[in-house]
Amino acid sequence: MTDAVQTPHVGTKFTPRVFSGIQPSGGLTLGNYLGALKRFAQKQDEGIETIYCIVDMHAITAALLDPVKLRQQTRELAAGFIASGIDPKRSILFNQSQVSAHAELAWIFNCIARMGWMNRMTQWKDKAGKHAEAASLGLFAYPALMAADILLYHATQVPVGEDQKQHVELTRDIAAKFNHDYGVDFFPITEPVIEGVATRVMSLRDGTKKMSKSDPSDQSRINLTDDADAISAKIRKAKTDPEPLPDTAEGLADRPDARNLVNIYAALADLTVEQVIADFAGKQFGVFKPALADLAVEKLRPISTEMQRLMQDPAEIDRILGEGADRADAIAQPILRKTLDIVGMIRSRRG
Ligand code: TYM
Repeated sequence: MTDAVQTPHVGTKFTPRVFSGIQPSGGLTLGNYLGALKRFAQKQDEGIETIYCIVDMHAITAALLDPVKLRQQTRELAAGFIASGIDPKRSILFNQSQVSAHAELAWIFNCIARMGWMNRMTQWKDKAGKHAEAASLGLFAYPALMAADILLYHATQVPVGEDQKQHVELTRDIAAKFNHDYGVDFFPITEPVIEGVATRVMSLRDGTKKMSKSDPSDQSRINLTDDADAISAKIRKAKTDPEPLPDTAEGLADRPDARNLVNIYAALADLTVEQVIADFAGKQFGVFKPALADLAVEKLRPISTEMQRLMQDPAEIDRILGEGADRADAIAQPILRKTLDIVGMIRSRRG
């Protein structure tokens, strides 16, 4: 490792850069929109470079997908990004597998991360459950690929929902161990950005469970492709308790179903929970739910309409992803090269 120690010092100051990703594993939920997409679009206005990735390599870790379906879901997710306000000119938008440096850096990180770290990942435990022996190696190594996604761009900020916090923390551990073991200050210690009232949107059937595309009940979630009737019906049937809305935010503390609906309202309307409570204190759900349904329809309908329009031109979506991949690759290649150099791997091919 002595060679690596002599590699020119990269410095501790990293240009602020946002990176985040979503799996094209079928269907976007209101959770993905409020916890991720809406915030990704807002990040563009902060004058910071933003890189967004459709992580198709992650999407085959839990189970292989029908190839036709994977392509379709990748394009649909690209349409979802754009329809949610991510402008492919201001942000880099691409699918992971087009930039092979992700897989290359992930290999190095597989050799940095420890089995014990991976074993502690709650998502691994949840997804593999009692069948760890039958789970793919890719599912186990998933967080190392996620670390590669982030660190390949020296990203300093990663906006995610609450459920991804542990994976971003693991990314920090991988960066720190790499820097320490090779005696460099090469990878940033990335910050998870988990902000706002919708970092954990809960199921409409059970306010203690995360809203998820893998929940067997479609009533538990709002899909970005749901029409106005479906959205209203799901909100009308959402689980609540018999009490009216409280007059302070603290009054929601032990009421997970009520709190979830108020949080969703606040996130959709760009209000604080206190502001929503001020408007609806003492009101019954018979009043609140129709107001929430109207708001959800008003905010989500333009997105699903725009997604449908974009999906009519798959070649244009592929063009956008290709252009994004070229731009991503231009940032990734020098960082990958430098990493391999630090590790001691020779790259002497021309071209
Ligand atoms: P994924 O595809 O499961 O989810 C994408 C994003 O949506 C957020 N999210 C939610 N936020 C609030 N409430 C919910 N109910 C909810 N459900 C999902 C997630 O927190 C996430 O931000 N491993 C990642 C994808 C990934 C990634 C990355 C993310 C791969 N590489 C690098 C950031 C950086 C995942 O499976 O997210």
